[in-house]
Amino acid sequence: MFGEIAGRYDLLNHLLSGGVDYYWRWRTVRKAPPQGTAPILDVCTGTGDLALAYWNRGHGRIRVVGSDFTHQMLIRAREKAAQLTSKSRDSQPAPLEFVEADTQQLPFDNDQFQLVTVAFGLRNVTDTRRGLREMCRVCQPGGRVAVLEFSLPRNWLLRTVYLWYFRNVLPIIGQLVSRNRQMAYNYLPQSVAEFPQGQVLAGIMQECGFSEVSWTPMTFGIATLYVARKPEVISPVA
Ligand SMILES: C[S@@+](CC[C@H](N)C(=O)[O-])C[C@H]1O[C@@H](n2cnc3c(N)ncnc32)[C@H](O)[C@@H]1O
Repeated sequence: MFGEIAGRYDLLNHLLSGGVDYYWRWRTVRKAPPQGTAPILDVCTGTGDLALAYWNRGHGRIRVVGSDFTHQMLIRAREKAAQLTSKSRDSQPAPLEFVEADTQQLPFDNDQFQLVTVAFGLRNVTDTRRGLREMCRVCQPGGRVAVLEFSLPRNWLLRTVYLWYFRNVLPIIGQLVSRNRQMAYNYLPQSVAEFPQGQVLAGIMQECGFSEVSWTPMTFGIATLYVARKPEVISPVA
């Protein structure tokens, strides 16, 4: 499904969100900024926008890796990365690389990354807990995770209007522009409605090894950013 929409994915993202997706990524990078020089991993990276944003924020001096299991998405991500890195004033900028990998089985050693991020991707990982545990495994002790995900507004009026747009307008525009066979944009509202949010997702993140989970609803609660830490030392089970 993601392979089919890869070519028009960026256009649709910006169109369907009215450009607010730029702001959500900008806010993510600000709320969970790089600290130090250890590398950053963005899983379910798609066409790589969050990975690119982090590379920019690190002024091209921090290695950023994006991973995703959809080859067509990564082709686009690599094109964008080549454009961005070629503009760097540094003669040897840090790598901005993309790796084909399942988030449920990441091909990285333990405790590698200062920051592990995912934007609008965790909802799509078949086994959410397995994905989160993998993100925790590759994160450095004391490092952070940032999960940006769709959510539903709490205000009932906004929620009703939003769900109407989500169920009636968004799938039509999505289908017209991306022309995929699998009706990807019909699946979106359903997956958002079913995915845990707020305290429930925070609890799952804690179960999977993270602590200090906090979350920030954005744009009337249409998207939520969860930030958490991997503890320095895992306390022994009593
Ligand atoms: C909605 S897109 C989000 C892309 C990007 N992070 C963004 O913010 O635009 C979801 C991405 O998750 C990827 N994905 C879903 N499940 C995955 C998994 N188990 N392992 C790796 N990638 C996965 C899909 O291939 C797709 O590129």
